Amino acid sequence: QLVAERVQALAVGGVKELPEQFIRPSHERPENSKAVEGVTMPVISLSQPHEVVVLEVAKACEEWGFFLVTDHGISPALVRRLQEVGEEFFGLRQEEKEAYANDAASGNFEGYGTRMTKNHDEKVEWIDYFFHFMAPPSKVNYGIWPKNPPAYRKVTEEYNKEMLRITDTLLELLSEGLGLEGKALKSVLGGEEIEVEMKINFYPPCPQPQLALGVEPHTDMSALTLLVPNDVPGLQVSKDGNWFAVNYLPNALFIHVGDQLEVLSNGKYKSVLHRSLVNKERTRMSWAVFVVPPQETTIGPVAKLVDDQNPAKYSAKTFADYRYRKFNKLPQ
Ligand code: SIN
Ligand code: FE2
Repeated sequence: QLVAERVQALAVGGVKELPEQFIRPSHERPENSKAVEGVTMPVISLSQPHEVVVLEVAKACEEWGFFLVTDHGISPALVRRLQEVGEEFFGLRQEEKEAYANDAASGNFEGYGTRMTKNHDEKVEWIDYFFHFMAPPSKVNYGIWPKNPPAYRKVTEEYNKEMLRITDTLLELLSEGLGLEGKALKSVLGGEEIEVEMKINFYPPCPQPQLALGVEPHTDMSALTLLVPNDVPGLQVSKDGNWFAVNYLPNALFIHVGDQLEVLSNGKYKSVLHRSLVNKERTRMSWAVFVVPPQETTIGPVAKLVDDQNPAKYSAKTFADYRYRKFNKLPQ
């Protein structure tokens, strides 16, 4: 196993010029693909009447595949604690973090990771991360969760409960938005076997942020992604070929529609293309929670949404097969 060069170690080392493998091709650079100013994303309060929330969520998923949720009932103190334990982990000495190094090359993403280049032309992102399962219990490997800070496990388990609760709420709203029975989407995504993953994204200060990307443009493979960032801006979403910066909104959850929901809804809901930029002075962090079906679950357009007038736009396949194709850039 190759030892990855951590982006954080580069930044702490005071690198003044961006190393070549981080320099994006001209058209990808933030300086040449600026975001449209003055457009705000849908912000949806869950405290509105149920029918209003259903309509707003469905509209946001059709137009953007992205929205912010407020009044979700998660305590701001819990989110703050989640952020603190993540910050404390990344603040540990490099050697201590390396004890959690993952082996992404052999398909084991759990633990501390950094993407490495396979060849000289391939560009990498200005990011380190920590990834682990949170649910269901049978998939959770506490051995890889940070033991330091000691509160990491308790705080993260607490947050996971809230993620499961909000996932149920969102999937119900999204089901109703498709004219389906409230439990429909959760049930096709594996019911109580639905999987929840945590990815802590750590973007250290970058010497030349206009030449780099924190995360390159992509859509998430998940059904849904529930994200909280710190207050350093950087997330951008794409719509009709333009980039739009997502403004920070304290205490909001940033919801992304992922590929599996686009497929299940037969294209009614859009898997949002997004990217993240980095900052010259400040460390950006985000906590992305991926909601995914179990590997062997077959995902295709929901039968009730398909008929002669609305033929299936996507082929059905297991989530494992979908992932394999996406990783290897094969057609779906
Ligand atoms: C990602 O989409 O992979 C990261 C988004 C973010 O950090 O806001
Ligand atoms: Fe993403």
